[in-house]
Amino acid sequence: MTVFKQNLALICLISIICGIIGSVALAQAPSPVTFTADQDHQNMMDQLGIKALRPGPSGNENAPNHANYDESKANPYPNVPDPLIMNDGQKVTTPEMWWTKRRPEIVEMYSKYVYGRVPSSVPKVSWTVNTVDHEMIGFTPVIAKDVEGVVDNSSYPAIGVHIHMMVVLPARANSPVPVLMMFGRAAFPNPNEPSGSDLDMINKAWESVLVKEDPSLKEIFEQHPAWQPVKGTPFQFPQLNEDGGLPNTWQLVAAGWGFVLIDPGSVQADDGAGLTRGIIGLVNKGQPRKPEDWGALRAWAWGAGRGLDYLEADPAVDAKHVGIEGVSRYGKAALVTMAFDQRFAMVLVGSSGKGGATLLRRNFGEAVESLTGGEHHWMAGNFLKYGASDATFGSMTAGNIPVDSNELIALCAPRLTFISYGIPAKGDAKWLDHQGSFMATVDASRVFTLLGAKGLAVEGDYRTAQMPPVNTGFLDGQLAWRQHDGGHTDAPNMKYFIQWADKFIGHAPPQ
Ligand code: GCU
Repeated sequence: MTVFKQNLALICLISIICGIIGSVALAQAPSPVTFTADQDHQNMMDQLGIKALRPGPSGNENAPNHANYDESKANPYPNVPDPLIMNDGQKVTTPEMWWTKRRPEIVEMYSKYVYGRVPSSVPKVSWTVNTVDHEMIGFTPVIAKDVEGVVDNSSYPAIGVHIHMMVVLPARANSPVPVLMMFGRAAFPNPNEPSGSDLDMINKAWESVLVKEDPSLKEIFEQHPAWQPVKGTPFQFPQLNEDGGLPNTWQLVAAGWGFVLIDPGSVQADDGAGLTRGIIGLVNKGQPRKPEDWGALRAWAWGAGRGLDYLEADPAVDAKHVGIEGVSRYGKAALVTMAFDQRFAMVLVGSSGKGGATLLRRNFGEAVESLTGGEHHWMAGNFLKYGASDATFGSMTAGNIPVDSNELIALCAPRLTFISYGIPAKGDAKWLDHQGSFMATVDASRVFTLLGAKGLAVEGDYRTAQMPPVNTGFLDGQLAWRQHDGGHTDAPNMKYFIQWADKFIGHAPPQ
């Protein structure tokens, strides 16, 4: 044997042995823990030394334990943490102090106590385009791409995570377009179907298949030569938004924007039982979370960030002007995405409530105790402490949370931040605490101003600030507010969002 052959044989032998050792190690890796949501919740309480949590209030106004809706009792902790005062008491007086000292301090507190940390070991994501479809949305031709981000799971093959997105861009744009990423089901918006001569060919083939199956059909086809078994779907008028406007996606592409639908469930399940799976479970190798680990909101936000990585590599996208949008729990996720990932240029936060734009300290509708109870999977485990009535550390309340949502909104400054709500009479429940969200937005305005941007032009401070009348927006600044007269949706605000964002980014609809 030559030396070369000997070396080759040795290398082969070593790789075989390593392969065997590797497979044995992986085969020995325990399968993911299977907990119910309640078991996961109890596990976290045990880790934190919590014996009892205060129950959350009922959303049913007739129940004896219903949520508070009396404004005079809504502010048990009237002083919220000041985004412009450092933890050591120093005042933040310059943008530099904000960027280098105060902002990192707030990010750290939010990570540690509220939403959890993105682990440093989170694996890489590789994107592939599965399908490219050419469609029409209204009168705008678009290209819809079904894309998939496969998370490297070589460290724990028992869990696979495939982030699913639909990327829809106007087909005839002559420059890169701004894009709004929206949390929601990533389906093809308007699958194109064969028409004209393609449909004729399908019908011919279909007829001959049928006749082969049952020769007596030949006569029927001969009697009805103009009839076609497969017909094109007639034009369908879209389901209009609550305000009578066109659907959000139609408005966006008509205005020369692209949009992305990102499926949050493909990143992390919206369920406490799912915390040992999904991206959180993959990083933890199927084991339950530790108190500072991320919850679903932070995981969804991370997924959106990976989606933005994909868009940054697409030359048809103006990656400096990508926004994020969501409603309700996904409104919270949109705000969290924007707060932590500064590459997002804008956000439309729809009806986000507690854990979103509303002050955690407010006692109006949904409470901190609602989040520490049934919705614990959205938050870091550590957040449970603020609902504890009996624990090794005593008890804690919303008043002990070291941050509040005025600071979460401030983390978005000076980027374009639109806080949106509807009205209770149409189903955007009082539970969401519109007034508390307005107060937080008003207070965050000071940070926008410090950074040379514009917040809400409101007299007085957040304690006395009153919401403007419905349908009267504050849309002059980079921080915007508008309560529309529809329900639990942001659709009636979409046209205002597009005009407002276009103005600031210098984009105009195609002529
Ligand atoms: C519940 C929950 C809210 C959440 C909403 C939703 O009402 O309490 O926090 O925003 O569901 O996402 O639908």
